[in-house]
Amino acid sequence: MIAYIEGNHFGNPRTDTLKFMREIVMCTTCRFTPAEKTGPDGRTGGEILIGHMRDAIAARGADVKVQTQVCLWNCKRHCSVVLRDDERFTYFTGDHEPSREQADAILDWFAAHGETETGEVPFRLWPDRMRGHFIARIPPVKA
Ligand code: FES
Repeated sequence: MIAYIEGNHFGNPRTDTLKFMREIVMCTTCRFTPAEKTGPDGRTGGEILIGHMRDAIAARGADVKVQTQVCLWNCKRHCSVVLRDDERFTYFTGDHEPSREQADAILDWFAAHGETETGEVPFRLWPDRMRGHFIARIPPVKA
């Protein structure tokens, strides 16, 4: 059994010796735009959004794990991002533009999620940029 200790506002343990209980899963192959697979620098939209996410996390000094995945089977609603938590609701999201502003909005929402008991974030706390991006919520595995 894994024991969790008091987390920061992202809900992650404060020590590297324990397993992360939360993470952001991001698609590497999502398109840049509906018409273009890659942007001007040759990266996919997913790769660009992942880059912005890593920069946003570093700028905050946040303790957030990013996992990357080739295709999350949500290709028409690119870019795709899963906000995963093994003790609270997990959320599948899409239609994210590959921008720093969007990465910051995802992180803001994930921080609010980390403050909740169940993973249900009051709508009034949602960043505007996160509205309309939620596709499904998945409950945690019950013991
Ligand atoms: S390419 Fe990103 S979900 Fe399929």
